[in-house]
Amino acid sequence: MATCQLQIMHRGAKTCLDIRTGLGFQAIAEKHATPLEFDCREADCGICIFKVLAGGDHISPPTARETDFLRAMRAEPTERLACQARVHGPATIEIEHFVIPTAKD
Ligand code: FES
Repeated sequence: MATCQLQIMHRGAKTCLDIRTGLGFQAIAEKHATPLEFDCREADCGICIFKVLAGGDHISPPTARETDFLRAMRAEPTERLACQARVHGPATIEIEHFVIPTAKD
């Protein structure tokens, strides 16, 4: 079974996981202790947003739903939704607090 290493940075801590290639972040979070959080699981809430620090080409391309949500939230190009993405090779991500833009922003 092929493995890849996923590093998750969160609040100064690093979680290093050897995972099966092609797993979705939801499946990863079910099998391993991670700081990933999910709610809607349908690209509607944004709680699962993360930033790609390295290995973005090893993460599945954004789904149409993910693209629509991230565009609406004016997300950075490196930001993705864990409920929609899969890992296909070594990657490093960072999980930050998600702030929903307000009319003042
Ligand atoms: S869990 Fe709601 S957008 Fe991913």
